[in-house]
Amino acid sequence: MQQGKAALMMQPFDMVVFGGRGDLAKRKLLPALYHLDHENRLPQDGRIIAVSRGSMSRDDYRELVREACATELPTGQFDDETWQRFSARLDYVEVDATEAPAFGALRDALAGRDATVRCFYLATAPELFGPIASNLAGAGLVTPVTRLVLEKPLGKDLASAKAINAAIGASFSEQQIFRIDHYLGKETVQNLMVLRFANGLFEPLWNRTFVDHVQITVAETVGVGGRWSYYDQAGALRDMVQNHMLQLLCLTAMEPPITLDDDAVRDEKLKVLKSLAPIAGSDAAQLTVRGQYRAGAIDGQPVPGYLEEFDAGAASDTETFVAVKAGIENWRWAGVPFYLRTGKRLPSRASEIVVQFRTPPHDLYPESAGAIHPNRLVMRLQPDEGIRLLMMSKQRGPGEMKLRQTALDLSFNETFGGRSPGAYERLLLDVIRGRPTLFMRVDELQAAWRWTDQIVAAWNQQGIVPRSYTSGSWGPSAAVALIERDGRTWHEDDPS
Ligand code: BG6
Repeated sequence: MQQGKAALMMQPFDMVVFGGRGDLAKRKLLPALYHLDHENRLPQDGRIIAVSRGSMSRDDYRELVREACATELPTGQFDDETWQRFSARLDYVEVDATEAPAFGALRDALAGRDATVRCFYLATAPELFGPIASNLAGAGLVTPVTRLVLEKPLGKDLASAKAINAAIGASFSEQQIFRIDHYLGKETVQNLMVLRFANGLFEPLWNRTFVDHVQITVAETVGVGGRWSYYDQAGALRDMVQNHMLQLLCLTAMEPPITLDDDAVRDEKLKVLKSLAPIAGSDAAQLTVRGQYRAGAIDGQPVPGYLEEFDAGAASDTETFVAVKAGIENWRWAGVPFYLRTGKRLPSRASEIVVQFRTPPHDLYPESAGAIHPNRLVMRLQPDEGIRLLMMSKQRGPGEMKLRQTALDLSFNETFGGRSPGAYERLLLDVIRGRPTLFMRVDELQAAWRWTDQIVAAWNQQGIVPRSYTSGSWGPSAAVALIERDGRTWHEDDPS
């Protein structure tokens, strides 16, 4: 009964997935929609129509989705009752996205449903975004309740991002366009806003007077593997920093928005992006580090190097690791460095934002009591989502005074129990409900490209190529030097 209530809140919808047989659809989108159905969050009248080149019967498509869901979902979360309900929603329509006449088949599938929320999800190569948008408009399929959802990469620089926006903007208004950055759908990213704006404790300290610096790390153990052809054109700066890391930086640094409405939050993020100090020319050698992994071992398992993953003979100057010392030129953050680092084939999968506060101005305790470590607030995005506040305490005992760093620990798993919903579940629901707050607006996207384009240009001008690092290490030693030069250290070990 209670489940039925959740479903009633959703409007009927048609979710049309271009690239419906592709990797993203199979690994993320369809399992996320299945989960939503499992939790009765989808209305009875909610259809999922996969679109792709090549013919396939509806039954064969359902079988493909069944296998994908059974593989992707954790054991015990795939059950027959949900599958019966979910599979009845699925349909398949053959469309060659570049052929205008082929869209007639999609028009037939959507006939009579112009008043129903219609989402076109483009899980395709970005070269197809423009042609698909114009063919949809040409076929008369863009209604007032239509949304267009785009997956990254949304360009490879500012110029290509503008070209994509111009191509889709000819057929869709900005309000209809939902640009996905899946980091914005992660539970802990939402929690970052709650931590800042639903607690009175932190906000007064959240500025240059009390904060020494901020670190944002997104570390992955995976390599590039089968995505080499895309990744080699992109590299870590475009793949991770331009979007996910800058979004995390924005949410950490932005001013409190006046409301949680779509434009209010995005306006504040945009101001942060516009305040980023440019990194250009010879500054790039001081403020950035590029790395590329070579063979090594992770968790005791040998792994190949980046170049060996694709072709033993290949040469490439693409970075799989990047560290950046960024600055935000505004009143709140002037002089406070934001150290960003992300890389593949690092020793563990760990994403976190660390806010380090200044050390107390005067140390009362004798040297024998031990050093005072500055307070750190660690917001852990994945895995083990939670928040830790590192603080100094007196070690127990009647003898000599000893200080020790301890942690106030809030584990979301222990506190809330249950399953933490995947980012796509939240984002897909928001698309259907027409809530754009967690999606990137065109001006944000362009401001982010403008900043990273300068770094790429500086790398090219200055001949800055990636330094090699062993898989299973924390990147090139220059990344350690980047922060240690300033008398600071990357956050690695928490006290237990
Ligand atoms: C994607 C990048 O956007 O994010 C990948 O293209 C990366 O290279 C992935 O692995 C990381 O996402 P998550 O959710 O696993 O941290």
